[in-house]
Parts: sequence; structure tokens; C-alpha cells
Amino acid sequence: GDSDRMNIAIDGPAGAGKSTVARKVAEQLGYVYIDTGAMYRAVTLCAQRAGISADEPVKLAELARSLKIDLEPGEHGQSVYVNGDNVTALIRSREVTLQVSHVAANETVREVLGVMQRHLAARKGVVMDGRDIGSHVLPNAELKIFLTASVKERALRRHREMADNQTITLEQLESEIAERDRLDEQREISPLICASDAVVMDSTGMTIDEVIDAIVKLSRTKLAEA
Ligand code: DC
Repeated sequence: GDSDRMNIAIDGPAGAGKSTVARKVAEQLGYVYIDTGAMYRAVTLCAQRAGISADEPVKLAELARSLKIDLEPGEHGQSVYVNGDNVTALIRSREVTLQVSHVAANETVREVLGVMQRHLAARKGVVMDGRDIGSHVLPNAELKIFLTASVKERALRRHREMADNQTITLEQLESEIAERDRLDEQREISPLICASDAVVMDSTGMTIDEVIDAIVKLSRTKLAEA
């Protein structure tokens, strides 16, 4: 039944390791992983394709409403479909990455995606990662984690991931990450914020497995208490 499952919210800034951690925690618990950043990225990609800019709120909202976004688990993360089209690789492009914070600042886009996200979590048993999940989308999530790491550490991790892409320097990455943090923290609508009842975890100097283990332990404790 629903009583033996919970929802877990994992929020935090870009590059803190949320998606890997959330996916593996979900795997270990037999839960569904939901990458909400991928949903904002999908809307951003479609806006770029349609020639809609981040400062056209009415058109953006209309576009977001017209999209059927599906997230399907795969071996190396999650495949993302928009109206049946596989956009998994395309939503990770630099163009999308540079634009997505601006699209995500749009109130109606957030409302539309928030409704989709709550619907996905309605039956419990999800691990959802994002920026405003514990604070806004799922305020009743049984376990909330706020996962951070220093800007330098996050830039290093991203740089390692892009080993074959030498077109961007570590310094550039650091400043892009800092800028994205700033936009995500300072927007008026659902900014990146740590929910008052979230467990704060700083992953600087921790391995991914240590972070995953800590969260799985916390979730088992919560379940035992319930
Ligand atoms: O986690 P990510 O880097 O894929 O997220 C992409 C962007 O989407 C990021 O700039 C912040 C935004 N986002 C958001 O505003 N709210 C969420 N719940 C998830 C992501």
C-alpha cells in the first residue's frame, strides 16, 4: 500500500550530483526517479525550436501546456521524450543549458510543470530532484535533502565529465555555474531555496556512494518511524 512508500525530494544547485544520487537512491529503494530539470530543459529546447524567447511568457506557457513530457528509466539515466520524440541528448546541449534558467524563471511554465510533477508523485514512491521540490512542489515529501557542494568542486566534476570537450575552461565553467546559481536563487518565483525541514548535505569531499548510502539510511529510518 501507499503507507510503506514515501516521496523523497532532492534539491540543490547545479552540479551538486543530484541526478546521479537521486537515480541511484531510487534504484536501491525500487522507487521512480524524476528529473525535473530535464522537464525545464525539454520546454527550453522546444522553445528554441519554435523561435520563442525566454521573455515571451504567454507563448512559453502555451507551449509548455502543449507538450507531453515522458521520462523513462534507462541504464545510464533517464530518457526524455517530448510528444513521443526522444530528446535525451538534445536537452543537454550548451544552448539549452545557457537558456534554461531564463525559461525556468517563467511563472506559468513553473505552474504547468509543477502540476505534472505533483501528478507523477501522487502515488508516492518517487525520488524527485530539482530546485523547488521540497519547498514548493512536494511540501509534504517525507524526506527532503538539500544537496550542495562548493562552486569549485562542482566545476571540477563537470569538467571531468566533459573530458573530450576542451572548448571550455575550468574558469569558464566556474563562472557559468556561479551565474546559474545566482539566477536560480534570485528569481522571484520558486527560487532555489532550502526547505526549513530539509536535511542539508554538503557533498564536497564525499564520494557519490557515501552520499547515496547516507540518503538511503535516512529514508529507512523515516520509514521505520512511520
Ligand atoms: O538540474 P538541471 O541543471 O538539469 O536544471 C536545469 C535548469 O532548470 C536549472 O537552471 C534550474 C531549472 N530548474 C528549476 O528551476 N526547477 C527545478 N525543479 C528543476 C530545474
